[in-house]
Formats: sequence, structure tokens, C-alpha cells
Amino acid sequence: MTGIIIVTGASGAVGREVVKQLAAAGIKVRAAVHTASKGEVFKRLGIETVEMDYARPETWAAAFNGAAKVFFVGFAGPTFADLSRNFAEAARKAGIAHFVKLSAFGADFAPQFYIAKSHRESEEAIESTGIAYTHLRPNVFMQNLINYYGQAIRDTGRFYLAQGDGKVSFIDVRDVAVAAVETLTSGSHAHAGKSYTLTGSEALSYYQVAEILSRVTGKTIEYVALSEEHALQQSRASGAPEFLMQVHKTMDAFGRSGGFAPVNSVYQQITNRQPVRFEQFARDYAEAFK
Ligand SMILES: NC(=O)c1ccc[n+]([C@@H]2O[C@H](COP(=O)([O-])OP(=O)(O)OC[C@H]3O[C@@H](n4cnc5c(N)ncnc54)[C@H](OP(=O)(O)O)[C@@H]3O)[C@@H](O)[C@H]2O)c1
Repeated sequence: MTGIIIVTGASGAVGREVVKQLAAAGIKVRAAVHTASKGEVFKRLGIETVEMDYARPETWAAAFNGAAKVFFVGFAGPTFADLSRNFAEAARKAGIAHFVKLSAFGADFAPQFYIAKSHRESEEAIESTGIAYTHLRPNVFMQNLINYYGQAIRDTGRFYLAQGDGKVSFIDVRDVAVAAVETLTSGSHAHAGKSYTLTGSEALSYYQVAEILSRVTGKTIEYVALSEEHALQQSRASGAPEFLMQVHKTMDAFGRSGGFAPVNSVYQQITNRQPVRFEQFARDYAEAFK
């Protein structure tokens, strides 16, 4: 018996997919949503839903109540380590037996990349509580092309990044969820104390991504490589806070240097499946780019 699994960030890209896959497998899942209205879709499917806000610890007890495991989706930023420590400690005290954290590629080796450093601080904070943990460190999501750049692609046929011709071993969010479900449901704490860096099976530049999207959708889609200075000017002009400027600046520098390019087979080892290739992702989501 797995017991109830709480999925935080349930309305987000990864959380939504984890809830969907757990429910499809007949596993008891509780979707923790930040914005109440975003829980309606789960309620309609008969999935237990609870409102939970990281900024309001008084909402955590209801989320943890009677549950066995947590899938934790947080956000890189200045308060991330404190939140992670407090949330994991509250989970441990509530009797949660396993805490699976959505971390990020590079957490263990790329402190120059702000998001990776912030996730490592969050991981360490969770570990310090003594709760049984698993860290999932996926590389860049294929779905970013829809969630972040989809509007620009639909409107103009172009998307803009300052990542030069750096390659990325993109992973499909559906595969991140498969790995999450495996770590949350396999018996005997098989994945406790482990950290998994998850990549796709090929590294592609954004030029290659644009070429595949164009071929599959039949619409010309172009990647425009911005200079570092141009990208920073755009962030400044949009009024982004200092830490967000650091996020973009360090991510782009990491990407341009090929930091996101390594490919491994960890996903295959823990799930016994092959990751989705970018071309398949493009076929599955072709309508989102038109
Ligand atoms: N994108 C990538 O390529 C990538 C790659 C590797 C790792 N990651 C990591 O993945 C994580 C993001 O996952 P995602 O893409 O699934 O996120 P997402 O789509 O941005 O969704 C974020 C979720 O968190 C919820 N949330 C926001 N503020 C909250 C609060 N105060 N209390 C409780 N919940 C709150 C949101 O709910 P509302 O919408 O209701 O606010 C939403 O459900 C980040 O830690 C990121 O660093 C991302």
C-alpha cells in the first residue's frame, strides 16, 4: 500500500502530469493547489483537492493530514532554503515517510547557475531535517517551448533566447512525471537518499529545435539568438527583480557554454523506459505552435 501521495504545485507543468499519472494508476493522490479555482479540474475528475500556500504555514496541516508521501514543487529564489526546511520539517512531524523534491539539473555541480545553486540549498535544507528524501534533477523541459515561448511562436513564428548555439538534453515533462511516480510508489524505500539527474536521450541546440518544430508543424519557426547585453536590457526594461536578472544571466551563460548538453541514461535505469525524443514531443504538441 502506497498511502495517500500529496502533489504540490498540482496546477503547474510537472505537478499536473504527476497527479494525472498517479490517478491513472489507481493510486490515492491529493492535489495541493495554491489558487483555489485551479483545483476545480481535479475535483471534476474525483481527485481529492486541498488548498495549500507555502506563505501560509497554517494551510500545511490539512495537506499533510493522513498522507504518506509528498511530491514537492518549489521555486528557486532567496527564501527557497528556509521554505524547504520548514516544509520538510512540518512533513516529517506530520508522519510523512518520503519526500520527493523536484530539483534541477546542475544542482550538484553548477553553483555558477543561480537556479542550480538555489535548488542545492533547498536540497541541503530538506536533508538536514532527517526526512527520507529523493531529489529529481531534470534538465530543461521540452514544454518550455510552449509554456514560455509558445505565445511568441504562435504570434510571430519566432522565439528569442540568449543561449547561442549551446546544446540542451531537453526532457519531456511527461517523463519527469514518470520518474516522479516511480520514486513515489516503488516499495521498500528503494529511492530514499538518492538524487537523480534526468536528461533526454539527445542534445539539441535551439537552432535544431526550431528546425524540428518547423518541419513537424509545417510552419516556419525561427530561433533568434540574442546577445547577453540585449537579453539583460530586456529583463531590466521589464522591471525584473535583481534575483530574476541573476537567474536569466547565469542560465544563459551556462547554456551558451554547453552546460545543459550532457546526456545520461539515469531515466532509463530508474524507469526501464526510453525518454521521449524532441521530434515526438513536437508531433504530440504540434497544435500548440500554430
Ligand atoms: N522549466 C524547466 O525547464 C525546469 C527544469 C528543471 C527544473 N525546473 C524546476 O521546476 C520547478 C517548477 O515546476 P513547474 O514547471 O511544474 O512549475 P509551474 O508550472 O511554474 O507551476 C508552479 C506551481 O507552483 C504553485 N505555486 C506558486 N506559488 C505557490 C505558493 N505560494 N504556494 C503553493 N504553491 C504555489 C503554482 O500554483 P498557482 O499557479 O496557483 O500559483 C503552480 O501550481 C522549479 O523549481 C524549477 O526550478 C524547471
